[in-house]
Amino acid sequence: MTAFAQPESMRMNSAQGKQVLSVVRGGDFAHPGEVEAIKMVFADLGSNPQRKLLDVGCGLGGTAEEVSKLGFGVVTGLDNDRPTIEYALTTYPRHSFVCGDASDLSTTVPGPFDLVYMFNALYTMPDQRKVLTQCAAVCPAGGELRIFDYFIRSTDDRARIFAETYEGSRWQPLAIDQVQALFAGTGWQIVEMRDISTDYARWYKALVAGIESCKDQILAMAGQQWFEHALTKYRGYAKAAEDGVVGGLVLRATREVP
Ligand SMILES: C[S@@+](CC[C@H](N)C(=O)[O-])C[C@H]1O[C@@H](n2cnc3c(N)ncnc32)[C@H](O)[C@@H]1O
Repeated sequence: MTAFAQPESMRMNSAQGKQVLSVVRGGDFAHPGEVEAIKMVFADLGSNPQRKLLDVGCGLGGTAEEVSKLGFGVVTGLDNDRPTIEYALTTYPRHSFVCGDASDLSTTVPGPFDLVYMFNALYTMPDQRKVLTQCAAVCPAGGELRIFDYFIRSTDDRARIFAETYEGSRWQPLAIDQVQALFAGTGWQIVEMRDISTDYARWYKALVAGIESCKDQILAMAGQQWFEHALTKYRGYAKAAEDGVVGGLVLRATREVP
């Protein structure tokens, strides 16, 4: 793989990076699969306007908006990036969005919540055990956690090379062979882990095609450097997904009786 410069100012998780992805994805989403992914994660969930949901690492608010529109309940979004939360508050004023760190969320969004979820957010968080424990702290027994995220295999050297090339130390996808150990003692019992890598590969291929077809819009809103950055990075993701280096999963867990 060729070296890929990733200056701090050009993180795709910055407010500008997320805006670029929004143009390509046709909505305020920074996860693969956009609305299709949301419907996939909540496919078995009945409509319940009273249900209280917490969207951890909510980004620009598009996921919270969609989850609410689908009738799954009242959503609170939490993100530690202030410009991102300001955008969400302005764009989706009927939801509650809070700026705070997921590793300390019980102090900013005490809940209680019936369902806590994360779409491609846990992989960016350095202390994942602490985040999981904090999610449990705001969710009473019988509550649920759903995670939609990347996974790798800790023994696959190609994943290490991919991370070094395209991401860096902030990128901490779930290691599929270590997930049970990660969850042990956090208050969650894993009930299902579904491999959706084929969908991830399809979505990343579509994302690259979308970046190419939205070139003029990206150039106008963010400039040449952002366009090239996004294209190179997601070509890398599309190849890694195609080659089975980076996969996707949906994990469901229930809150253990404390
Ligand atoms: C890839 S984006 C996904 C955003 C959103 N879930 C979506 O699907 O559109 C990851 C988000 O996690 C947020 N984030 C990263 N670390 C965080 C932390 N420690 N606490 C709260 N949010 C965090 C980032 O600011 C970013 O908005």
